[in-house]
Amino acid sequence: MARPIIIDTDPGQDDALAILLALASPELEVLGITCVAGNVPLARTTVNARKVCELAGRQDTRVFAGASEPLSRALVTAEYVHGKTGLDGYELPEPTMALQDQAGADFIVETVMNAPANTVTLCALGPLTNLGLALKAERTMGARLREIVLMGGGLFEGGNTTPAAEFNIYVDPEAADLVMHCGAPVTMIPLDLTHQTLTSDAIIDDFRAMPNHTGPASAGLLDFFERFDVEKYGSQGGPLHDPNVIAFLLKPELYGGRLINVEIETSSELTRGMTVADWWGVTDRVKNVTYLRDVDVEGYWTLLKERLATLR
Ligand code: BDR
Ligand code: CA
Repeated sequence: MARPIIIDTDPGQDDALAILLALASPELEVLGITCVAGNVPLARTTVNARKVCELAGRQDTRVFAGASEPLSRALVTAEYVHGKTGLDGYELPEPTMALQDQAGADFIVETVMNAPANTVTLCALGPLTNLGLALKAERTMGARLREIVLMGGGLFEGGNTTPAAEFNIYVDPEAADLVMHCGAPVTMIPLDLTHQTLTSDAIIDDFRAMPNHTGPASAGLLDFFERFDVEKYGSQGGPLHDPNVIAFLLKPELYGGRLINVEIETSSELTRGMTVADWWGVTDRVKNVTYLRDVDVEGYWTLLKERLATLR
């Protein structure tokens, strides 16, 4: 039986490839996609998520609008990375499919509480505001989840938005704090891991050469997305963060990490959104997060290419 997941996302080119990977994978059943403000404002992420579903030929996917701003802070966006639309790099047609009426957080609560316990997995690819709202509305929801797998944070690599903080956690640290202590098994995919899954000209060429729509569209998105980080880090390619969340569900054997304590900095302005990760076990704080640090990079790209090649 396919594993039921909800994708919470702020597309974003890398979110787009994560959604495509999920939609291309029969092992997963995408119950719905909840959009959040992050890389670009909500008005754009809700359009972008639907564009991506239509690219995959999956107009049947339910897409929900979630939070337009963090729990208690002003929204910070990242057009400087993702371009004005959030999906700069390939012109996808305006979506024809409608948004669902229900609010994203309400959909999450209703779905998780009505499903058998320990069955639904939440895949979080953006700021954690929708999950935070859902957890505030229904405190027992965390204990009913099978797992939360999120892209966010970092320790050894430092931050990408400030020296201390990664974007998704920086934007809504209060929501991240709720998630880390919600009672669900939490698996975290930090920059320490995603900075290994770098694009390259050869990889992008492979996508471009696919005899379908999705391959060349993905190549355009990847081309645009890598520019910012190639310039910033002086690397050969850019890190493709979010598809790691879906790839981990499909092939956990590609990943390695440890169960450790992770706390979120919510009070200091200097280190706002820092993921204080006790990798070396120097505290006796409760181990609440499986922190993934290792990835089989070749296996990751092979999986992504194989699966996206099966889409229209
Ligand atoms: C994360 O922030 C966004 O820019 C990406 O979509 C990814 O989810 C990386 O820090
Ligand atoms: Ca994202």
